[in-house]
Amino acid sequence: MISPLRGMKDLTFDESQRFEYIIETASTIARRYGYGYIETPILEETALFKRSVGESSDIVGKEMYQFIDKGENDVCMRPEGTAGVVRAFISAKLDRQPNKQKFYYYGPMFRYEKPQKGRLREFHQFGCESFGEASVYEDFTIISMMAQIFDALGIKYELIINSLGCSECMPPYRENLVNFLTDIQKELCEDCNRRIVTNPIRVLDCKNGKCQSHLNLSPKLIDNLCEGCDDDFKELTRMLETAGIAYRIDTNLVRGLDYYNKSAFEFVSSEIGAQSSIAGGGRYDKLVEFLDGKPTPAVGFALGIERIMELVKMPEEQPEGYYMGAMTPEAIPTILTLATRKRLTDKVTIEYTSKGFKSHMKGVDKANPKYAVLIGEDELANGTVWVKDIETKEERVVKVEEL
Ligand code: HAM
Repeated sequence: MISPLRGMKDLTFDESQRFEYIIETASTIARRYGYGYIETPILEETALFKRSVGESSDIVGKEMYQFIDKGENDVCMRPEGTAGVVRAFISAKLDRQPNKQKFYYYGPMFRYEKPQKGRLREFHQFGCESFGEASVYEDFTIISMMAQIFDALGIKYELIINSLGCSECMPPYRENLVNFLTDIQKELCEDCNRRIVTNPIRVLDCKNGKCQSHLNLSPKLIDNLCEGCDDDFKELTRMLETAGIAYRIDTNLVRGLDYYNKSAFEFVSSEIGAQSSIAGGGRYDKLVEFLDGKPTPAVGFALGIERIMELVKMPEEQPEGYYMGAMTPEAIPTILTLATRKRLTDKVTIEYTSKGFKSHMKGVDKANPKYAVLIGEDELANGTVWVKDIETKEERVVKVEEL
């Protein structure tokens, strides 16, 4: 028997219902905020991710599903959605248009990580990317949209925010940080030591407890933001407070992808174990330019569908449509024809075997319809059907064509 690959999963019926419900809920809300659907390829040139997510990130450095295809191209299964959407935005020359553009997407992402609860090698994201809006109010709007999606799904969360500054305040801070880290180098783990050289900001979110105890005293970017970044961050917190969206500032929230600047945010849940991040995002004002597009400010997020499937409260199933059955084999063609007609507008569960009344009623219990429709010998002879309204228990006999 052939099993799925490690870290990859089939979605069986109960799970796929949750999956669809999350996508439908998030898409509906995204459309209300002016986002339109975009679909980009799963396979892209490896260079796209190296240049956007960053060579020093774990995602690119350790976790890419990368290979040389039959045409000798260096390609990669996308580890995340933003890079592809930005590439598509530039490919379609949308960066040359004056209007703002907003896209939502969902689909599989691939990271060759060590599988564990909540961490898969093939997982799914729902994401939104907004291009052309530099105002911090767009950051707020995106965060409030995320909060609305989680509220609609019945999920409790904690919102964590930080500012990663800009090209004015980040470089002097980074230098400051490297000096601090070099002084405590001996106390830090191997990964941190490597990152002091490759990506010092990532040292801040090391999960090693000993490292963290030394990092408590590190200089904080939030205390060293330039005036523009500081004003924007304060405005973001003020807006969140006005909107009643609770947040916590975590100066160590740096995100695992290199393209961010200014606002960075993460939604976490305490109910799903160690892999607690259910959504993440932030501003990435330089990425379009960096991938050879026209300078375009941008901000976006993605949520992890599998992690959210663990938490979502599904609405109770309401009775729907019809259950149809025959009590004599001769009535089956009539039932099938009737079902095809009703399926133009309604859900119909149909039983192909002719059975007795009691047997059909067991089927009705399972199908949870609004109406049970049966045809026995008498109904067949008279061109009628027996209909029962399950909620009111009212029974009637009507002409087939009147149903
Ligand atoms: P990310 O934080 O890497 O951000 O991923 C977003 C979400 O995907 C995470 O919060 C988590 O729920 C889910 N996720 C990540 N890795 C795994 C995994 N191995 N197994 C299961 N779920 C996972 C991004 O990908 C950015 N592109 C978000 C973004 C969009 N920023 C701006 N625009």
